[in-house]
Amino acid sequence: MRILVVIASKHQATAEVGDVIVEELRAAGHQARRVTPGEVRSLDGVDAVVLGSAVYMTQWMESMRDLVARRAAELRARPLWAFSVGLAGVPAGEVQDPARAAGVVRQLDPLGYVTFKGRLDPSALGLRERSVARMGSAAEGDYREWDKIRAWARGIAAELAEHAGDGQPASAEPAPDGAAPDGDAAAAGDAEPAAAGRDPGAAPAPSAGG
Ligand SMILES: Cc1cc2nc3c(=O)[nH]c(=O)nc-3n(C[C@H](O)[C@H](O)[C@H](O)COP(=O)(O)O)c2cc1C
Repeated sequence: MRILVVIASKHQATAEVGDVIVEELRAAGHQARRVTPGEVRSLDGVDAVVLGSAVYMTQWMESMRDLVARRAAELRARPLWAFSVGLAGVPAGEVQDPARAAGVVRQLDPLGYVTFKGRLDPSALGLRERSVARMGSAAEGDYREWDKIRAWARGIAAELAEHAGDGQPASAEPAPDGAAPDGDAAAAGDAEPAAAGRDPGAAPAPSAGG
């Protein structure tokens, strides 16, 4: 199945989580690709979606909230999983739960939603971010739990295999003729390197007024 892994990340911790999820989905035989919210022009040809955002000031990043606002109906029409990456629950930190993020997520009625612990590297932060992080007593360090992240992604792959019909391995699916041509994602303006491979979601849609 063609799975779009849409990731909003400012300092790459969430992007790297997205890459690991893509890796696991591919290992399970799916076509998966990571894109930024700004790169999503159309969900045509996308069979399932994973949305993941870093949490800042209790909220998903604006680019992801915008995407949800723009595409809520299309997103809801597909098997969808969502995750947040934040520092809530990290020992020694007193970072607030991503409460407002949860509202956005609920709107999408995902098949699964989870919060993963992220990373705080003060040296990568701007002055204002650093002082906000300090005020929140956010704990410095990399708390990402890769085994948990990989297990969650494998769970998605397994559920999709079930959805796909009667236990058929999803890996049997060949690349569709209608897969999006390459080359569009780079024009979308986000500076993140996207994972290589087929592009099931960032299809050029010149008239899609988004
Ligand atoms: C200014 C600032 C505000 C943050 N606010 C929250 C928050 O409200 N809740 C939370 O769980 N984590 C919060 N965090 C922690 C980030 O979500 C965490 O560092 C995350 O891994 C960042 O992901 P990214 O590298 O993909 O941008 C905050 C971090 C910073 C620097």
